[in-house]
Amino acid sequence: MNLPRLGHENLGLGVGLRTVHYEHILRKNPAVDWFEVISENYIDSQGRPRYVLEQIAERYAVVMHGVSLSIGSTDPLDFDYLAKLKRLAKEVRARWVSDHLCWTGVAGRNTHDLLPIPLNEPTLKHVVERIRIVQDVLERPLVLENPSSYVTFAASTMSEWEFLSRMAAEADCGLLLDVNNVYVSSVNHDFDPHEYVENVPHERIVQCHLAGHTNCRTHLIDTHDGAVIDPVWELYRRAHELTGGISTLLEWDASIPPFPVVHAEVLKAKQWIGGEGLGVRGEGLGMREEGAVTAPPAYGSVPHPLHMVAPEVQ
Ligand SMILES: [Fe+2]
Repeated sequence: MNLPRLGHENLGLGVGLRTVHYEHILRKNPAVDWFEVISENYIDSQGRPRYVLEQIAERYAVVMHGVSLSIGSTDPLDFDYLAKLKRLAKEVRARWVSDHLCWTGVAGRNTHDLLPIPLNEPTLKHVVERIRIVQDVLERPLVLENPSSYVTFAASTMSEWEFLSRMAAEADCGLLLDVNNVYVSSVNHDFDPHEYVENVPHERIVQCHLAGHTNCRTHLIDTHDGAVIDPVWELYRRAHELTGGISTLLEWDASIPPFPVVHAEVLKAKQWIGGEGLGVRGEGLGMREEGAVTAPPAYGSVPHPLHMVAPEVQ
């Protein structure tokens, strides 16, 4: 596959769909270009979350982002989970399906964390084989995100960008470049984040993530709890240049502010990339009072992105 973004269109500037914003979105039809939804929040639900998702999928482009594929684990792949993913993707007309380059559990136990993998030849072979199986089941390319990490492995023999490049080529999959994760890991592990962004395979990048993080002085934690800092915007600007433009999404998962604040944060991307062709929908267009729902209470402060999964499915 040589097409940029694996042939997917640049959807513009999107926001991660969170339950606290359901009511605002359904009432106001905000001028966001697209939404990314957490797959696990909907694959087992036929109730209100699914109703809301279907309403949103009628109005916006939707992309599915998972947190429990566990592509790096030595546990067998969960084919029941994959079947549910495939069904949901069809039902909401998901543009693509993504997850993380990580493992989330072993021996049937789920740690509810996105854990890093050793970056070496045996792991690469293992992950590539599993991606190919997943893609065969889903009948579409998988898109995998670079994780944020807090430890490295003595057994690693290559950089993360080299691993991603070889993985994407050998498995023929797509990449989700989270530039905040690149920055967080670069500080935690003392590498140059610009070298990373320069060396990932740009034609394979289908989507980009932006987010805030927490600076603990000795290390950074990927908390998704605030605004994007300028060094991360700078990485995004460069990624945008190198890719020729990619679907861009802001993640905000803790201390979530009202929707207009989250939307305004992703719209700052226009200042960094020039603002072409974005935000074409009109605030208030097609307002439907009858479609409104009552938003559940906001999440509490959370320590890591797995808490983006709605409490009822954790
Ligand atoms: Fe991300």
